[in-house]
Amino acid sequence: MSIKVSAGDPLDFQVDVLVLPVFEAAGETSRPRRGSLEGRADRKLSGGITALRRQGVLSGKPEETVFLSGGGDLGAFRVLLVGLGKAGDVNEERVRSCLAAAAGAAGRKISRAFALHDLPLPAETAAEAAAGAVVLSDDSFDRFRKPEAKPKRLPATTLLSADEDLRAVRRGARVGEAVARGTCRAREFGNLPANHAFPRLLVKDLRRLARKSGLSITVLNEKRMEELGMGSLLSVSKGSAEEAYLCILEWNKEKRRSLPTVCLVGKGLTFDSGGISLKPAADMDKMRHDKCGAAAVVGTMEAAAALGLKVHLVGIVALVENMPGPAASRPGDVVTAMNGTTIEILNTDAEGRLVLADALLYAARFKPEVVIDLATLTGAVLVALGKHRAGAMGTAARELKRLRKLAEEAGEPIWELPMGPEYDEMMKGRTTDLKNLGGRYAGTITAGHFLSHFVQDLPWIHLDIAGVAWDDEHRPYNRGKGATGWGVRMLTRYLADRYGRRGR
Ligand code: BES
Ligand code: MN
Ligand code: ZN
Repeated sequence: MSIKVSAGDPLDFQVDVLVLPVFEAAGETSRPRRGSLEGRADRKLSGGITALRRQGVLSGKPEETVFLSGGGDLGAFRVLLVGLGKAGDVNEERVRSCLAAAAGAAGRKISRAFALHDLPLPAETAAEAAAGAVVLSDDSFDRFRKPEAKPKRLPATTLLSADEDLRAVRRGARVGEAVARGTCRAREFGNLPANHAFPRLLVKDLRRLARKSGLSITVLNEKRMEELGMGSLLSVSKGSAEEAYLCILEWNKEKRRSLPTVCLVGKGLTFDSGGISLKPAADMDKMRHDKCGAAAVVGTMEAAAALGLKVHLVGIVALVENMPGPAASRPGDVVTAMNGTTIEILNTDAEGRLVLADALLYAARFKPEVVIDLATLTGAVLVALGKHRAGAMGTAARELKRLRKLAEEAGEPIWELPMGPEYDEMMKGRTTDLKNLGGRYAGTITAGHFLSHFVQDLPWIHLDIAGVAWDDEHRPYNRGKGATGWGVRMLTRYLADRYGRRGR
């Protein structure tokens, strides 16, 4: 699908469903605002919208959807009113979630047009949010269904804008679509079951993606990692029959001497059984999503190429399976990371930090301006922040502040957790430099402190996405549940804002 953009009067536009955003009235009045598209539609519909408001069928609250018959004076066969809440509260994220709800309600078998006229946002921003909403709500994970059960071709979608000059609208739509495609890629990567996505298979997928997207790819196998002294990462893989890989994707590699470098590092546990410190059976299947940090990195790399980001972007994904096989690491084992730091493994289920330790050390080779890691690292972040914010920590204070603002706009908010020597103390080993377990309290913070020992003096941001990387309930733009693709929107926005993109 490619989203079309058109000017002209939405009320004349010939389409199966015309999606018309409406707002919650500020006061008592149930009459549409003067001069608004809603007002004009109301007149053409003989006061049908006003009547629905009076009857209390339509209030305009966020994500509310109501169908009306079109035809007659209207170009559209049906009109779909979608609530956006109070006009004063409308932001990009609101547009994304409400238009996604509308796209879901409209269904997939018909053509649809979204009228962006009344939205209180710049036309380009509105188009970006709308395009994102459409692509994300159409996405579903159907790889393992019979062909006849897979959704058919997606419907034709048009964004209708009041702007006569459609260039900005088209640009917004293209950005929204590219970023959403990256998000869909991340979802797909995150959703794959472990038997279809062990490290070796994902490496194959990544090679294909790299070729298709114009990314460079370097792959380190276990032998190479052994030579490099990545004893921490490799200790996690020992209990698995599957070999671990460290994959390095690069965008603008050939321009690395003239462009600034940013490293993204993703935890890619293709399955986390817990190892010898085995997890309980309930919900263990969810641990196929323990590669969502890597998924976010992969989706961002694809979007970076599509957007032509003006940065040398390095995506490092550590693909490892944590299993309790006969060669598995045992609690009490001591391992050594690439920089010589010794670690006592007290719990083999705290494996993400062991993997990230060596991956972060490897990132230093690229001398990045900033390194950002994403990991489904701790269950504790769910206790702290629930499913609505990712936990953030790090040493790059200015960049973290910038990221926080842009993440909020992108609808992927983050919240900073504190760092301090007290927490660092909790990770010191008895007979080793570090241990991989900090104790009962502040689990997300102590895990972040563990990682801090492997970034040396690089400006660094750590995002614990264990709470946000997948959803168990239906959301307007994650209808299939499962992996959310969290991170792609905020990272692409951050990188585009900081370094620019093609045409900007
Ligand atoms: N992948 C898990 C974290 C996780 C838990 C993500 C629940 C999503 C939902 C991680 O590897 C893990 O097992 N962490 C342990 C750490 C503990 C042993 C210190 C945890 O959070 O229980
Ligand atoms: Mn674990
Ligand atoms: Zn894990």
